[in-house]
Amino acid sequence: MRAKLVAANWKMNGSFSLLDNMLDVLIPYSGEESCQVVICPPNVLLSSLKKAVEGTKIEVGAQNVHTEISGAFTGETSAPLLKECGVQWCIVGHSERRVLFDESDEFIRNKTETLLKHGIRPILCVGESLEQRESGNHEEVVVTQLRKGLSGFAADDQSRCVVAYEPIWAIGTGKTATPEQANSMHSIIRKELESLASSEVAEKIQILYGGSVNVENAKILLTQSEIDGALVGGASLKIDAFPQIVAAGS
Ligand code: PGA
Repeated sequence: MRAKLVAANWKMNGSFSLLDNMLDVLIPYSGEESCQVVICPPNVLLSSLKKAVEGTKIEVGAQNVHTEISGAFTGETSAPLLKECGVQWCIVGHSERRVLFDESDEFIRNKTETLLKHGIRPILCVGESLEQRESGNHEEVVVTQLRKGLSGFAADDQSRCVVAYEPIWAIGTGKTATPEQANSMHSIIRKELESLASSEVAEKIQILYGGSVNVENAKILLTQSEIDGALVGGASLKIDAFPQIVAAGS
């Protein structure tokens, strides 16, 4: 049985006070019985997050990393420094990075490699645009992103990755994929993982759904057979919503 995982992607939002207030409410929700919980705030909040969650079940995630471990890359953050800040997880391949920052599959794959080398678990995002879904290309797009993102890694490394299926048309739009659409794409992803790695690895890898997850739809999504958790954007910034989404996954 794969454990459920609920991850918060704060994007370029949040503040020190939101972090304090969120943790006050969230920590009681994340006891022994809870699903895995990861918070990915902006980097400047990482050290405070790490201190505040020591001894709890909440884990620390970052939203981005560079492929190189040091050098003249103004504005970027290296994997070793993230590790020093207590980072256990890092999102890679988010559609906002692919589209707004022009990140290629190869660059994303190399980020994954750097993370794995430094003991940080990648959350690899894949997902199609509305146009790609409407033209019937969605499965091919997702499978290609997955193949390119995970190619050339040993089975052990592949099994340390988590995949997040995030259809672009569902991100921040309030338009969620139906549980059936999400579950069916997750089955396709798992089948592809079998041929990329092995059936053992494919059985282990958690596949999260992301795209307008909220308090109302969390339970139905998180109880689908192929959905192992959620990557939550907007609702993860709401103190009256995120802890309840964690509860729905627990
Ligand atoms: P959303 O974002 O929940 O606001 O749709 C999800 C994400 O981008 O990870």
